[in-house]
Amino acid sequence: MARKIVAGNWKMNLNLAEGAALVKAANDYLNANPVKHIDVIVAPPAHQLVQTVKLATNTKLSTVAQNMAAHENGAYTGEISASMLVDAGVELVIVGHSERREIFGEDDALLEQKLHKALEHGLYPIFCVGETLEQRKAGEHFKHIENQLQAGLSKFAADQLPQIIIAYEPIWAIGTGETASNEQAQEMHAFIRKHLATISNAAVADEVSILYGGSVKPANARGLFGQPDIDGGLIGGASIQIDSFLELIKIGEDILR
Ligand code: 13P
Repeated sequence: MARKIVAGNWKMNLNLAEGAALVKAANDYLNANPVKHIDVIVAPPAHQLVQTVKLATNTKLSTVAQNMAAHENGAYTGEISASMLVDAGVELVIVGHSERREIFGEDDALLEQKLHKALEHGLYPIFCVGETLEQRKAGEHFKHIENQLQAGLSKFAADQLPQIIIAYEPIWAIGTGETASNEQAQEMHAFIRKHLATISNAAVADEVSILYGGSVKPANARGLFGQPDIDGGLIGGASIQIDSFLELIKIGEDILR
C-alpha cells in the first residue's frame, strides 16, 4: 500500500521566525493528536532547511527540499547538491515542480537526471507532473502526463519506483483557487497508476504514492483525499497558514487510507 502524505510546499514564502512558528505549531498539534495513517512533511525555502530539520528531529514531521541540482558538488554557483541536502538532514526533495519547469526552464532530460541523483543519495523525490489549461482544453492532458512520466521514470527498475512519490499538479489549478474536481483528479491519478504499472507492474504501482496538488484547502480536501487513487496532497498556499495546515493534517488523518 502507498504511503499517505500531507505535504506543505512553502515555495518562496516565510522567514525564519515564521517558518519556526509553523513547524512548532505542527509539532504541538501532532503531539496532542498523534497520526497513524499519514506522514506529514514540509518543504521550506533553502535557508530554513537546517532549522526545520532541527525542529523536526524526533517528531512526526519530515523535511523536504524544494529543489536540488542534477550535478555532484563543484562549480555550480547558486545550486545545492543532493549530498548537501543529505548532510543537512533532509529526507525528500521536490523534483520538477511546474514552477521550475515553466519559470526556470527545467526540461524532462534534466529532471530525469535529478531523479536518478536523488535516489543515488537516498533522498525520496516528489516528482511533479501536470498539464496546462490549453493542453486540457485540447484533450491532450493524458498524453502530456504520460510523456512526463515516461521521460522521468522509464529507466528506473521496478524495485526503485516505490521510492518515488508522484505529485499530479494541474498547472491551471495551482494558486488559482480553481481545483480539479474530485472526478478529474481521480481520473488522472488512476491513469498515472496505470502507466506506472506499464513501467513496472500493478503491485509496484499500488505502492507508489500519488499526491494531488492545486488549490487544496480544508474546504475541498475531504473530497479529494477520499478518492481511491489519491494518496494525499502537496499543498501550497493553505500550508503556510497555521490553522489551515493543521486542519489539512486532521482531514488527511481522518480520510486517507
Ligand atoms: P497551491 O496549493 O497554492 O495551489 O499550490 C500547489 C502547489 O504548487 C504545491 O506544490
